[in-house]
Amino acid sequence: MFSRSSLIAAAVAAVMLQGAYAQEPNCARNYTVVLGDTCDGISAKTNTSTYQLATVNADKIDAACDNLAVGEPLCLGITGQDCTVVDVVQSGDSCAAIADDAGTTLDILLANNPNVNSDCTNIYPGEVLCTADEVIVVNSTTTSA
Ligand SMILES: *[C@@H]1O[C@H](CO)[C@@H](O)[C@H](O)[C@H]1NC(C)=O
Ligand SMILES: *[C@@H]1O[C@H](CO)[C@@H](O)[C@H](O)[C@H]1NC(C)=O
Ligand SMILES: *[C@@H]1O[C@H](CO)[C@@H](O)[C@H](O)[C@H]1NC(C)=O
Repeated sequence: MFSRSSLIAAAVAAVMLQGAYAQEPNCARNYTVVLGDTCDGISAKTNTSTYQLATVNADKIDAACDNLAVGEPLCLGITGQDCTVVDVVQSGDSCAAIADDAGTTLDILLANNPNVNSDCTNIYPGEVLCTADEVIVVNSTTTSA
């Protein structure tokens, strides 16, 4: 026989698992983690900025992005807040050059990638930046308004 407390623990675990694996109804692009995925890898292959992937999935992905689970559903972008115009940073890139190549401005580039500092000294090869030519506000929560 299962004890009452172990049944309760199992029920709580099931609810938590369901919560952790719930898809956002207002998600513009759903994604399921596959073996070998990294955050920047997912970003690059799906045209999603590093910032947007982290922000939209802040409740699922930790800061170091070392807790991705195969089969885990992620949301790549919230409807109406989804930047799909991106550039993958190469060695030697500068924000000014990236903005210029993409036909946008440095101000818009920085606004669309709040993880990049104002001097643009913290970008790194493989990072994915939103290079849209308009500012796309990405809310820090996936909770529907
Ligand atoms: C993403 O998944 C959610 C939950 O299943 C669903 O409501 C939504 O329509 C999906 N979005 C797309 C673009 O398929
Ligand atoms: C990403 O964007 C590029 C350039 O617009 C396009 O060629 C490619 O098909 C896009 N990939 C996906 C997965 O949307
Ligand atoms: C961000 O979320 C807030 C609160 O849910 C909402 O009022 C606001 O419209 C959202 N911003 C955008 C750009 O959707």
